[in-house]
Amino acid sequence: MASRIRLSGLPRTDRQPLRAEPAPGPTSGEVPTMTINPPTATAKPLPLLGHGLQLVRDPLGFFEGMVSQGPVVRFKVGTRPGFALNDADLAREVLITDRTSYDKGGPFIEAVRMVTGNGLGASNAADHDRQRPLLQPAFQHSRLPTYVGVMQACAAEAVDRWTDGGSIDVYADAYRLFSDITTRTLVSTSTGVEATRVMGETMPVLLDGAFRRAMVPVEWFHRLPLPANRTYQQAHSDLTAAMDEIVTQYRAEDYDHGDVLSMIMASRDQDTDQGLTDSEVQDQIRTVLLGSIETETSLLAWVLHHVVRHPEVEQRMWDELNTVLKGSAAPDFEQLMQLTYTKQIVTEAHRLSPPVWMFTRLALRDTELGGVAIPRGSDIYICPYTLHRDPTRFPDPERFDPDRWAPGNVSSAQRQGFLGFGAGRTKCLGDVFGPTAVTVALAAIGTRWRLREDPAFTTRTVTKVTLSPGHQHMTTHLRRPAAPATESERDEVPAGL
Ligand code: HEM
Repeated sequence: MASRIRLSGLPRTDRQPLRAEPAPGPTSGEVPTMTINPPTATAKPLPLLGHGLQLVRDPLGFFEGMVSQGPVVRFKVGTRPGFALNDADLAREVLITDRTSYDKGGPFIEAVRMVTGNGLGASNAADHDRQRPLLQPAFQHSRLPTYVGVMQACAAEAVDRWTDGGSIDVYADAYRLFSDITTRTLVSTSTGVEATRVMGETMPVLLDGAFRRAMVPVEWFHRLPLPANRTYQQAHSDLTAAMDEIVTQYRAEDYDHGDVLSMIMASRDQDTDQGLTDSEVQDQIRTVLLGSIETETSLLAWVLHHVVRHPEVEQRMWDELNTVLKGSAAPDFEQLMQLTYTKQIVTEAHRLSPPVWMFTRLALRDTELGGVAIPRGSDIYICPYTLHRDPTRFPDPERFDPDRWAPGNVSSAQRQGFLGFGAGRTKCLGDVFGPTAVTVALAAIGTRWRLREDPAFTTRTVTKVTLSPGHQHMTTHLRRPAAPATESERDEVPAGL
């Protein structure tokens, strides 16, 4: 990757603009007198579409191409001005420090909104401040041991279905696993199971359609009576019907199912004693289903993709599983928490292949970022995929190296450079739940199975709203049988067969 021009190596107060040229006139707001003209994307914009088509055709390449141009690079999607941030400090400024200038918005958030409505992932600051405290309690750390029990049971069932020498579609199996986990922890009734099934069926269509609509924001084009547009509308109606049914059922029963949805429906605003309306609850279910299943599936698929290509990493993981879990099919919560290296693997895969590879914000007013004038209404693009490859924070960034995350190895610059869960008040609600589910799954797989890439299939990177290795196929080879090992059997288990 090309080297970067960076401002972030300097303390914030010492930063100087790259070139002190006057910016094209901001109209209002608190803009400093000295701003610079940001470089623009080298790719040529098309009339009406701007860089939208390049973004749809090769999203990663488009953002990678802008990295060497500077910390803030200007481009266009449709007729809307966009700014790519190539500096994690600037991204944090947008997400954390300067809340008055930026809010949820821009193509990524609009794509999310098309699927989830005004759920937490897409709501503006005012709605968000009211909604977040209503959802937060369901994801407290204290609830984790309960969820981990369910995750383990689901993971054990998933790997039980594999056969020695068989071949699996990793993405499909992972999707089924995380749907199971989500259903049993978040929406545990039979209607919830059905809603999750409908979500699973409609999601690829919805995400695909939402991504295209966000990147090519030309209304009439998406209303043409084309098969793709009709399928998208149908998927939308099916999902709405499923969400309707689930909320109606929970309201009618007025019963605590012990799941996240029951908690969300029962929670009340401390000041007003108001809960969420039915339509708000529906939006939150979509948000949680979208936020969890798709991302966890992609992350596990990436983890396995990297692990099987790095035998030394795989061996160390097996060693840790052997030592800490001692062959147990049902390790307890404390044991799982001790899987330090296994968790590092998950974090490193998340760094190199972030499922949420890009997200956006909207500039609410004329403002300034890194010395660049940002006009009101601009879209700000934060791209963890490129930010996680910043060599000043992650030396030799393309190398898959879980030891970067070993206790004692993590510098503050590195920690600040990781944006795989976003940051600030809008940081991912499942930032513990998600990676824990993936670690539990990886432990269940690694304890019993050795996976190898199936040479009959090629892996390809699929970049939509989420980033995944697509339907990669792997062969499954038994490392050890399912039954919990006895004391003598444990001694016989060769580390990392
Ligand atoms: C490893 C899996 C996951 C990844 C990579 C991931 C990634 C992210 C990212 C990058 C954001 C920030 C987006 C932005 O700022 O616009 C986010 C937000 C969010 N995520 Fe996750 N997520 C994961 C798992 C989950 C799970 C398990 C849940 C729910 C159970 C969840 C629910 C949410 C919600 C509700 C938000 C919006 C938070 C807010 O705006 O307050 N995510 N996620």
